[in-house]
Amino acid sequence: MARQILIAGNWKMNKGAADGAQLIKDIKAQFGASCSCCCSGKKPEVLVCPTFTTLSAVVAEAQGSCLLVGAQNIHWADQGAFTGEISGAMLKECGVTHVIIGHSERRQYFGETDATVNQRLKAALKNGLTAVVCVGETLAEREAGTTNAVVERQVRGALADISADDMKNVVIAYEPVWAIGTGKVASDEQAQDVHAFIRGLLKTMFSCPCVADGTRILYGGSMNAANAAGLLAQPDIDGGLIGGASLKPADFATIIKAATKA
Ligand code: 13P
Repeated sequence: MARQILIAGNWKMNKGAADGAQLIKDIKAQFGASCSCCCSGKKPEVLVCPTFTTLSAVVAEAQGSCLLVGAQNIHWADQGAFTGEISGAMLKECGVTHVIIGHSERRQYFGETDATVNQRLKAALKNGLTAVVCVGETLAEREAGTTNAVVERQVRGALADISADDMKNVVIAYEPVWAIGTGKVASDEQAQDVHAFIRGLLKTMFSCPCVADGTRILYGGSMNAANAAGLLAQPDIDGGLIGGASLKPADFATIIKAATKA
């Protein structure tokens, strides 16, 4: 089954509304007057995930192009006393279609657990959003030889009670924590090994082979213009979740072009 490549930019806590709208203009300019990336055929889907207050400006600027817009988090409740959180309905109202869930920075700094990732995922699906669920081991876990065990726990936890049908709107992002923002990218082989492991795991978790075959698994962690082609050429790597390089229009465009050839 052919899986459409997804190139996603996670802007993290960068770019306010004015700067974010300008960044979208600059990304579009990299592609000339034509649609920036295009949604048909073999071309990759392109997603950008700004911070909450930048979403509306970016949605407006992305209109008429093929750029997709997503948020970086979602709460499981529809509304209520949850200071600092945001609901699926609020995200929908902003016009977003995607949401990142369980990023390692959320796990590391904000107490995100496999159980809360699962609750947030259910809320995303209930609200018709496509979820990009992040998993990945720390350096200590890799050095202890527990990468697969950690990733398995995270994938099983995130996907508890999720149906094969729901999986059509789930993307998994493998982001080794030691590779995020460090410039220390996983080798093509290291990344491919874990991606193949995750795909094998999906095979055991869902009786329909459509899930393992159809679920996109992105790589994230210091992906850039120089290393993207090698990573994206791996059979089980279906795109990238990109931090730093997604803030540089020329680099992001180079990654998208590499994905077009993959
Ligand atoms: P960097 O590309 O900056 O390493 O960040 C990766 C990431 O965390 C994307 O979610």
